[in-house]
Amino acid sequence: MRGIITTMEDGLGVLEDRRRVHVPFAYPGDYVVVRSTRRRFGKLLARNFNLLEPSPLRQMPRCRHFGTCGGCLWQGLKYRAQLELKKEIFGKITRIKAEIKGSPKIWGFRNVSNFIVTTDGIGLKEYGNPFGVVRLKECPVFSKRTPEYLRALRDFLKETGLKPWNLRAKTGEVHYLQIREGKFTGEVMVNLIAHVEPSEGVLEAFKDYFSFATSLYWSLKHDERDDPHGEAELIAGEPYIRERIEDITYLIHPNSFFQTNSHALKLLLNAVEGFTDGERVLDLYSGVGTFGVWLARRGFKVEGIEINPFAVEMANRNAEINGVDAVFRVGKAEETPIENYDTVIVDPPRKGLKEAADLLVKSGVEGIVYVSCNPKAFKLDYERHLKKAYRIDGAVLIDMFPHTPHVEAIIGLVRKE
Ligand SMILES: C[S@@+](CC[C@H](N)C(=O)[O-])C[C@H]1O[C@@H](n2cnc3c(N)ncnc32)[C@H](O)[C@@H]1O
Repeated sequence: MRGIITTMEDGLGVLEDRRRVHVPFAYPGDYVVVRSTRRRFGKLLARNFNLLEPSPLRQMPRCRHFGTCGGCLWQGLKYRAQLELKKEIFGKITRIKAEIKGSPKIWGFRNVSNFIVTTDGIGLKEYGNPFGVVRLKECPVFSKRTPEYLRALRDFLKETGLKPWNLRAKTGEVHYLQIREGKFTGEVMVNLIAHVEPSEGVLEAFKDYFSFATSLYWSLKHDERDDPHGEAELIAGEPYIRERIEDITYLIHPNSFFQTNSHALKLLLNAVEGFTDGERVLDLYSGVGTFGVWLARRGFKVEGIEINPFAVEMANRNAEINGVDAVFRVGKAEETPIENYDTVIVDPPRKGLKEAADLLVKSGVEGIVYVSCNPKAFKLDYERHLKKAYRIDGAVLIDMFPHTPHVEAIIGLVRKE
């Protein structure tokens, strides 16, 4: 089967003939030939395919791992075209016309990377292969220092003889190396996720090889799941690293979420602030208080609700170190009474608001700022619930995730008369 890619779906190019085939790393205007396919989640996915004629929207990818690495599906697209496509796809799903703001930096913007340490090599996961690992030499979206981090890791493993993780057998000692960088503070957090406790000798070597770290953690992993999470123990340096966005300092810990693009975060915060009205603000799904603390510094009286107690602790710490009037509490959004707020910010997980949407409708609150990385979930929440009481006042898209199909949407909703 051959033809021109006409559109994109779930980040993949779509080739339509008698059948509809999804082609990874292909873009609108590409002329491709697909020789074999496989079924995945009810869709046909191209397995063996070639690019016969490139789309004019293409650019030379900067990273040598493009095409195998699962990190950057869209790096072969010009950045302008990436933004236009994101806007178009968001519009198609939600029927909302929104302007899009590009990331101020499209290289070196990511503040976190999780390098997997396996018997097949150290690096990032291969696209479409749960057992495949790209033996990483560089990662231009993360950091220029990637080779230095990986060298330290390899030397450390060599000296200590610790065994890398075997993805199939689910055995081994070291599973992930997580690095986080404060892009505006220069601070670096190194967090090794391992299935064993370190001996004295291993700890000494760990401190030596990663002596550049502001904060050095060993996370003991108690399960066999393939994720970079464990029980974090501080080995050396500071318990947190800091990121600075304008006049706000945020603390980062191995077990806390932080927005991954420090450079575009200011645009996101400005967009949220732009839709926030009145005096009293509720930050639902507040995480580590990223929005709440920013808004409190701008004079709003902020309360936050978040299900994860550790995130709440971090949010209150963030409020404290910035000296702002914001209080965060542990709670479930769907069980939170919403009274006497002027604006409610919601930044739910990918599945959307679900039951919390009805609470908002019944609340009588004047304005909602809906932050969403999943336009399909927003559409369901809006069409099924929020629309009964709110109209869309405007929307802005911020590209927090260059070279991927994802985008963050900030949608302002106001109560109908
Ligand atoms: C997309 S994140 C929001 C992150 C936050 N805005 C920040 O920048 O740190 C979604 C947050 O919702 C929290 N969460 C998930 N389900 C929840 C619920 N039912 N009630 C309250 N919070 C919930 C998660 O723990 C997570 O911190």
